[in-house]
Amino acid sequence: MDERLFFPATLRNRRAIGEVLDKFLPQHGIVLEIASGSGEHGVTFQKRFPNILWQTSDPDPSCRKSINSWIMHEALAEKMPLSIDLSVEKTPWPLPNKYISKVSAIICINLIHIAHWNCTKFLFKESEKHLKRSSTLILYGPFKINNSHTSESNAIFDMSLRSRNKHWGIRDLDAVDEVAEIHSFKRRNLIKMPANNFCLVFSRTSK
Ligand SMILES: C[S@@+](CC[C@H](N)C(=O)[O-])C[C@H]1O[C@@H](n2cnc3c(N)ncnc32)[C@H](O)[C@@H]1O
Repeated sequence: MDERLFFPATLRNRRAIGEVLDKFLPQHGIVLEIASGSGEHGVTFQKRFPNILWQTSDPDPSCRKSINSWIMHEALAEKMPLSIDLSVEKTPWPLPNKYISKVSAIICINLIHIAHWNCTKFLFKESEKHLKRSSTLILYGPFKINNSHTSESNAIFDMSLRSRNKHWGIRDLDAVDEVAEIHSFKRRNLIKMPANNFCLVFSRTSK
């Protein structure tokens, strides 16, 4: 059964995100994608980085069905594992045993503005356990800089997020950096992306 979902934004941002990943992902190893959504990013990046094992995840069963359906549709089943049921807040994360201590990078696209602030804290806290020193954690999405929106459209988007859920909203870069540092991550890069988004590239430091 074809259970693929189609998230239009993934068509617009996959190329630009892929170019960032070209620079920051390791050549080999396991990448854990948090909040994979439809799975369109997952299969796109699995094809772009054939030497990496791309582990998708999402807590929403309809998303996991979609991700797995995309994996079948793109004939990646032999290469790419099925999606796992992972909510950043539910710890420990249910990574397959064979991947524990082997994750080389974690990527999270468009989650933290559309989730409770606790999710950001859990994301870094749990990533600290899974990533070794110097490994990379990449966030993509809209962010405030110096507590100001970077565009009028982001300000409107933020208001609409907050009206949908009072715990949602575009996060301030400094606040994210602060949580990151608590959990042994240092932001190495801030990359301006199309449509008023950013990629934040963090590196795992030692305590
Ligand atoms: C805006 S969508 C982004 C999906 C995809 N990354 C993309 O950019 O198309 C947000 C995703 O976060 C997932 N999500 C919501 N709460 C989550 C949580 N606590 N932990 C992990 N993922 C979560 C949702 O199920 C949804 O798939």
